[in-house]
Amino acid sequence: MLQDKFGRRFHYLRLSITDVCNFSCEYCLPDGYQCDTDRDFLSLIEIKRIASAFAKLGTSKIRITGGEPSLRKDLPEAIRACANTPGIKQVAITTNGYKLPDHIDSWVEAGLTQMNVSIDSLDPRMFASITGHDKLDVILRGIDRAIELGVTVKVNAVLMRHFNQHELSSFLQWIKTTSITLRFIELMQTGDNQLFFNKNHASGLPIKEQLISEGWQQIIRDKTAGPAQEFSHPDFKGRIGLIMPYSKDFCASCNRLRISALGKLHLCLFSEQGLDIREYITDDDTQRLQEELTTLLGDKKSTHFLHDGYTGATKHLAMLGG
Ligand code: 5AD
Ligand code: SF4
Repeated sequence: MLQDKFGRRFHYLRLSITDVCNFSCEYCLPDGYQCDTDRDFLSLIEIKRIASAFAKLGTSKIRITGGEPSLRKDLPEAIRACANTPGIKQVAITTNGYKLPDHIDSWVEAGLTQMNVSIDSLDPRMFASITGHDKLDVILRGIDRAIELGVTVKVNAVLMRHFNQHELSSFLQWIKTTSITLRFIELMQTGDNQLFFNKNHASGLPIKEQLISEGWQQIIRDKTAGPAQEFSHPDFKGRIGLIMPYSKDFCASCNRLRISALGKLHLCLFSEQGLDIREYITDDDTQRLQEELTTLLGDKKSTHFLHDGYTGATKHLAMLGG
């Protein structure tokens, strides 16, 4: 099992297969995707080799991310490649959901078990103003279908002072009858969003306090569960999660590694640089790849340095899929 010197174990890999995105979320790509890298993204064969090498090192869950992963035509094959890898028990995806009703059946057929979708507002006009796309209805329809097909659905909403801070009650209304986990994510500062961050960052703590005062109970999660805090309530079908990267000890439960669409290993979302492991993938040298991973992990730092305003090389999260 991949483990670092702080005893954290990494059974979860986030694998980006493209950094292209068609949305222009205010906090991520406000001017839309700019093509400033080459587009030599990981091929299906490379995806298979990565899945297999990581599985041999104890990875049991792979999340396919972007940019927007469904912009790749071979996404179902990528899902299938991960799902068919011995040792991989869960295959998840993070998507903006822009064509979800058209896609979801084929993803599930390929082996998808979990899906995270971003919905920052339940008001269609606000949704369109945040993302640049009037797609809320389509996405909600796609989520209903995913639930029908038995997929575990989580919905991510990034907290933004001037956009969605007053929407807690409509989100709560929604999960009264919908079995999803709704996760409020504190806005994170990245290289490109400094001004936006300063204006819009809001702590998740007041939400936590409100939930507790309204009878929500924190769920004790097992120690491999990752950094989200989750809450449930007997009157609600859905759950709520809070992701508060600026809170104390957030990084202590880190259980994930990331690979960018260009084949670089990122030990943290906010590391200084990605470490090029592509040559070991291209050469199909699983043994060497495994040795390299084990060595590289020795250098993983105990925490990010976001508190000091240090965002590493991460200009925006589309680079790495969050
Ligand atoms: N801060 C917090 N969350 C972000 N996401 C993208 N950029 C940021 C940011 N700067 C979220 C997206 C998506 C997930 C992958 O990360 O909304 O839900
Ligand atoms: Fe929005 Fe995700 Fe696309 Fe960034 S990558 S613009 S957060 S949908």
